[in-house]
Amino acid sequence: MQAKYSLMRRRVVIALGALPLARLAAASEDIEDRRTGGPYVPTPQIVVDEMLRFGRVGADDFVVDLGSGDGVIVLTAAQKLKARGFGVDIDPELVEQSNAAAKLRGVADRAAFYVQDVFKADISKATVVTLYLLPDMMLDLRPKILGELKPGTRVVSHDYHFGDWQPDDEYTWDVPEKEAVNGVPRATVYLWLVPARVAGRWRLNVAPPAGQTYELTLKQSFQNLDGSVTGGGAKAVKLTQSRLQGEEISFAFPSGGDRHLFRGRVAGGTMEGTVQLAGGKGSARWTATRVRA
Ligand SMILES: C[S@@+](CC[C@H](N)C(=O)[O-])C[C@H]1O[C@@H](n2cnc3c(N)ncnc32)[C@H](O)[C@@H]1O
Repeated sequence: MQAKYSLMRRRVVIALGALPLARLAAASEDIEDRRTGGPYVPTPQIVVDEMLRFGRVGADDFVVDLGSGDGVIVLTAAQKLKARGFGVDIDPELVEQSNAAAKLRGVADRAAFYVQDVFKADISKATVVTLYLLPDMMLDLRPKILGELKPGTRVVSHDYHFGDWQPDDEYTWDVPEKEAVNGVPRATVYLWLVPARVAGRWRLNVAPPAGQTYELTLKQSFQNLDGSVTGGGAKAVKLTQSRLQGEEISFAFPSGGDRHLFRGRVAGGTMEGTVQLAGGKGSARWTATRVRA
């Protein structure tokens, strides 16, 4: 991974070297806190198509590209997939070019581009966020992505990732020479689902026929869950099979040589779903309410 990283960084550094100095200087003056996600290096069309496929983009989606360059990602999403969205970039020329392309392609009602720093963009409407930004910028953006996007929002990145926030999926493949960035004929796309915030204590109620109340404690690191449960006359037991994908949650805990398996959805301070009861006792509905974050 490290080798791949330096290779990717080299690609962008090569591109940086190729940029006219005046444009570079203008760009860095515009950037808040002088944070830059890197220069304009367009994602090849074949990779854009794969990013949108990986993000399962469709007509109901609102796509936001942070650092949108010539607009290729949002333009493709609007034209080929009938999605809506916008891109932001600190380079006014690229933004003008993107808006002109949106008009030319007849998608200006669904695709717009703004001159804006990525950190200032209102991304709350997004159902899909796309990125092709340098690793440090990815890390700087991580709290914004986790804090401002709805749980379950798909985040798709070309080549760079979010450090120890592991992707939910990734795909590397060989691309034809003519679609290679700076002659590197390979590309990687990453997909994350913004995880719901579930850390804390929950009161967990299982409906009849089981009719049981438990106290559930969840610890969370991104989409990774850990925790324990008490109640039902039993001492605290560790959760097994815990999984969080966006707002979908599942976990299990042992009971009488078997296990109760819970599956459900998180909506803010509540969760609900169906539990498969231990010992082949069928299934029941469950709900949970957060009692402490
Ligand atoms: C590698 S290009 C990616 C362009 C496009 N997303 C794509 O994949 O083809 C990165 C873009 O991010 C823009 N950028 C860099 N730092 C930025 C910032 N702080 N705010 C907004 N845009 C930024 C650059 O001007 C550049 O156009």
